[in-house]
Amino acid sequence: MVALAVATAALVVLPYLQVRDIAPPEGLKPYSSAELRGRQVYISNGCVYCHSQQPRDRNLGPDAERGWGRASVPGDYFYDKPHLLGSMRTGPDLFNIGARQPSKDWHLGHLYQPRAYIPGSIMPSYPYMFEVKDAAEPGDEVVKLPPGQTPPSKVVVARPEALDLVKYLQGMNHTYPVLPPTVQQATAATQPATAIPLSSASAATPVP
Ligand code: HEC
Repeated sequence: MVALAVATAALVVLPYLQVRDIAPPEGLKPYSSAELRGRQVYISNGCVYCHSQQPRDRNLGPDAERGWGRASVPGDYFYDKPHLLGSMRTGPDLFNIGARQPSKDWHLGHLYQPRAYIPGSIMPSYPYMFEVKDAAEPGDEVVKLPPGQTPPSKVVVARPEALDLVKYLQGMNHTYPVLPPTVQQATAATQPATAIPLSSASAATPVP
């Protein structure tokens, strides 16, 4: 009973107390409905098994040097249910992929065939998110692939799930400034959580 109580306190109760009052940072927008659908596509295709969404602090790894952005803080995940932190990095961290790669055409093409963009990439292609047609119909989103990638005299059209997934990827941009967690905790201790003056965070270093 004692072992169980200690474990529950340390692994359930304490973490809950630590994060229950966290407010979303000012720069964080709730997901749109297209982004939420895209998030489901991300989950059902197992992207999380190869991609993390948690850039680490400079003291813990060279994530900032890799261009993955500032270390994430708890508030960044305010709207994430379930969170998609990931534990494997077969591919790059995607927490700021929307800032790093904003192009819809690039994302669609890369999902259709990663090796058209990154020779030797080991990321799977997702051909079932696309339709190969003889001709595009009105309203079709034709994927602009690099020369030689489109099947001869055909067009590659993105299905709705590909478009939603790309909306989700493009929206993944956590480059707004936040106070470092330690400062945030200190501020939260003296003020109600909702009143954390995140706007004054502009003094903190904005992350590229
Ligand atoms: C088997 C592991 C694996 C899976 C599963 C996987 N990826 Fe990747 N991904 C990679 C690798 C490796 C790279 C780096 C090479 C490249 O860009 O193709 C990458 C690169 C990327 C990039 C470009 C990142 C950058 O910084 O340029 C994006 C975006 C991406 N993946 C999205 C996805 C999405 C969305 C899914 C799910 C539909 C997915 N990946 C599934 C391995 C994977």
